[in-house]
Amino acid sequence: MKIGIIGAGNVGQSIGRRLAEKGHFVVVSFARSSEKLAAAAAAIGHDARVGTPGEAANAADVVVLATPWAATLDAAREIAPVVAGKVIWDTTNPLKADMSGLEIGTTTSGGEEVAKAVPTANVVKAVPPMAELMAISGPLSIEGRAPGVFVCGDDADARSVVLQLVGDLGADGVDAGPLANARYTEPLGMLLVQLAYLQGMGASIGSSLLRERAS
Ligand SMILES: NC(=O)c1ccc[n+]([C@@H]2O[C@H](COP(=O)([O-])OP(=O)(O)OC[C@H]3O[C@@H](n4cnc5c(N)ncnc54)[C@H](OP(=O)(O)O)[C@@H]3O)[C@@H](O)[C@H]2O)c1
Repeated sequence: MKIGIIGAGNVGQSIGRRLAEKGHFVVVSFARSSEKLAAAAAAIGHDARVGTPGEAANAADVVVLATPWAATLDAAREIAPVVAGKVIWDTTNPLKADMSGLEIGTTTSGGEEVAKAVPTANVVKAVPPMAELMAISGPLSIEGRAPGVFVCGDDADARSVVLQLVGDLGADGVDAGPLANARYTEPLGMLLVQLAYLQGMGASIGSSLLRERAS
């Protein structure tokens, strides 16, 4: 697939590299200098390209939003004219800048607010594993298990596309139903941030769903 990434930081680069390794074509955007953007494309490798957010989104089958919350809705509005009918994988978490909590939650979600900013696109919320984990080469694993990623969106086909990409990362995707369920998955991401960085567990943590799978 053609993947346009908005956000060239920890998440944009690590998702970009893992998807590029699986054969996806990546265009990365939204660093605040051309040098940083070029460095991000080089870190992704596999002939990843650079562009503006509009160029990355326009070229893409799937647009990955990997921006800090404070910049997310402006970024979403910027790409809105070129994403009609496209899948937008929202990886963001609406964290306060000091990571002390969430800016919004329980009565709405970051995913739903993004969807309002790009009303003609199919927004899927899937907060990925910790970027430090994804940045490591090789299988995505915590003590031999793939971390889980809950995938929420109102369009079943769009959820399937993101579930495939989450699988390509090496994570264990869970179909978590409609976009409004991001009201519950985003706080789980916040809990992991708290445990990793404020409670001292470190970034080699994740969450997953225990379930009996139909045989
Ligand atoms: N890090 C994780 O482990 C993790 C895991 C799951 C979800 N998330 C979520 O994923 C999103 C991205 O996280 P990240 O760790 O990749 O962030 P990051 O490393 O700080 O990257 C942010 C990217 O956005 C760019 N940017 C453009 N305008 C900006 C502005 N006004 N303020 C700040 N940055 C701006 C930055 O540019 P420059 O390159 O010029 O700085 C950078 O390329 C966040 O919503 C976060 O909550 C993160």
